[in-house]
Amino acid sequence: AVRKVTARTVVDSRGNPTVEVDIVLADGSRGRTAVPSGASTGAREAVELRDGDPRRWHGRGVDRAVAHVNGEIAATVRGRDAADQEGLDAALTALDGTPGKARLGANALLGVSLAAAKAAAAARRQPLYRYLGGAGARLLPLPMMNIVNGGAHADNPLDYQEFMIAPVGAATFAEAVRMGSEVFHTLRRDLLAAGHSTGVGDEGGFAPALRTAEEALDFVTAAVERAGYRPGADIGLVMDPASSEFFRDGMYHYAGEGVRRTPSEHADHLARLIDAYPVVSVEDPMAENDLDGWRELTARVGDRCQLTGDDVFCTNEALLREGIRTGVANSVLVKVNQVGTLTEALAAVTTAHRAGWTAVVSHRSGETEDTTIADLAVATGCGQIKTGSLSRSDRTAKYNQLIRIEEELGEAARYAGRSALRGAHG
Ligand code: PGA
Ligand code: ZN
Repeated sequence: AVRKVTARTVVDSRGNPTVEVDIVLADGSRGRTAVPSGASTGAREAVELRDGDPRRWHGRGVDRAVAHVNGEIAATVRGRDAADQEGLDAALTALDGTPGKARLGANALLGVSLAAAKAAAAARRQPLYRYLGGAGARLLPLPMMNIVNGGAHADNPLDYQEFMIAPVGAATFAEAVRMGSEVFHTLRRDLLAAGHSTGVGDEGGFAPALRTAEEALDFVTAAVERAGYRPGADIGLVMDPASSEFFRDGMYHYAGEGVRRTPSEHADHLARLIDAYPVVSVEDPMAENDLDGWRELTARVGDRCQLTGDDVFCTNEALLREGIRTGVANSVLVKVNQVGTLTEALAAVTTAHRAGWTAVVSHRSGETEDTTIADLAVATGCGQIKTGSLSRSDRTAKYNQLIRIEEELGEAARYAGRSALRGAHG
């Protein structure tokens, strides 16, 4: 049973305050988690409670969320069985009492939900991936490594937020990391040689002053080849345009390119990129409020490309079911803090898999040294993780945890590779 619940303010990878929670059980087992934070958030995400006091942390303080954990939430959780995750999460949600977890804050609730799971795993002396996933949890995910940053994650003119590489042809997860690192460093050299900055954005990818998606994709494809890999066969490309960020008044505003595109023109542009480059997956190709565009693109390229909904679903099972029913996307991005409890995040994965969809466990652009999502990717068997570049410890910590899990599983470990993309588009 839970003996003690403590929260504090720590800083995330952008230097912003966030909630960290410690839970201690009666037997002394401990769980700790720090909550991530997004920059290009979906409109229907659960509420991240910020103090809004401009004199402290530029208004971004989490004193109230921390106080909620240390007060009301601790009082509710103390004495509960940490191994009853569903019961605990239901109690947290009921205590909050609002649809978006707006009263206590999803950042407060998520910290407690995840810390409880980690404490319960520790009590059973099991690693988190096995505690949550059972003895069959042995699938190491295909990593989507974000090596060029744009959009809301960098100060460059690139309209699209993320350009990623996915080592579909690696034999093991450790090899996938090596391949990613080699391409990352090759890309650095190529950018330098072309006179570009090699400073990195929020997720550790380079943030050169490129203007078009083609330029970024050309640099990435060339780096894959120069590093000795075959684009497509060894390493697939992945994009997250984060299209909600530049959709206004029914138009997609490409500020960097200096053009506006109608939803059909935007979809045409994406379809051309998908066909011209070895693109295996696109996240948020269309805006969260452009469901017609989403359906049009899914019908058009969904048979040959994974189309992952981030902003459009917000890891929310009800929104996901609606998307499955109406032909929006064929895959869901899973960000635990978008929905606020572990139980609800796991439900999104289950619902996706039941529909023959894929699920991708994901970090946020504001992260910490916390590696919980690495274990979650293995526990769910979803076979895909998106957790940034091959730089910045807030990103590499997750890759390093997966390397350890692969080693611990030994002969039993399986690396998902290309097979992870099946289901979404055959
Ligand atoms: P965010 O970005 O964490 O800033 O929302 C990640 C994403 O859009 O996938
Ligand atoms: Zn996204």
